[in-house]
Amino acid sequence: PAKLVILISGRGSNMQSIVNAIQADKLNAEVAAVISNRPDAAGLDFARDAGITSETLDHKNFASREAFDQQLMDLIDKFEPNYVVLAGFMRILSAAFVQHYANRLINIHPSLLPKFKGMHTHKRAIEAGESEHGASVHFVTEELDAGPVILQAKVPVLEADTEETLAARVLVEEHKLYPDALRLLIEQHQS
Ligand code: GAR
Repeated sequence: PAKLVILISGRGSNMQSIVNAIQADKLNAEVAAVISNRPDAAGLDFARDAGITSETLDHKNFASREAFDQQLMDLIDKFEPNYVVLAGFMRILSAAFVQHYANRLINIHPSLLPKFKGMHTHKRAIEAGESEHGASVHFVTEELDAGPVILQAKVPVLEADTEETLAARVLVEEHKLYPDALRLLIEQHQS
């Protein structure tokens, strides 16, 4: 199985969907570790309960982005992952970090990239009058949210949508999309 290290900052529902897919034998992978940059991330409790190695590396304890990223690389590399999976990891990563994990650093972003890079994607999609919105799983490159897309999922934007209702509709799709995208990657690499 492919070895994954999953990075989170909060709720961790995408991380849970990946763990669930593995447990249901729908993804030939193992989660070597879940790492959070926030000690209070709710996802850490789920990971611990699932018996997954969980670590916290608090970015507030570091003087610079580069120092944090170097320590994070050292921590990740101990697990020798095939893929580093960003799942609601809300930190911009330095060029050195991105280069170190070239072709094995994956992210999920809540928009139909290249539309709506960055934050507040659901609000911006509504304000732009989009009829469709969704999520993208993509390779991470140095330019924010601009790396090659692996797979996308679409949802309709409804007249009555608020940021919250649209986010919830997208999230349901994210939870299928991330395991599907990882399966594609992993199966390609095995054949
Ligand atoms: C997800 O919607 C994910 O797409 C988004 O944060 C949420 C995390 O939820 N990621 C980004 O906005 C990345 N810039 P989760 O912690 O429950 O997986």
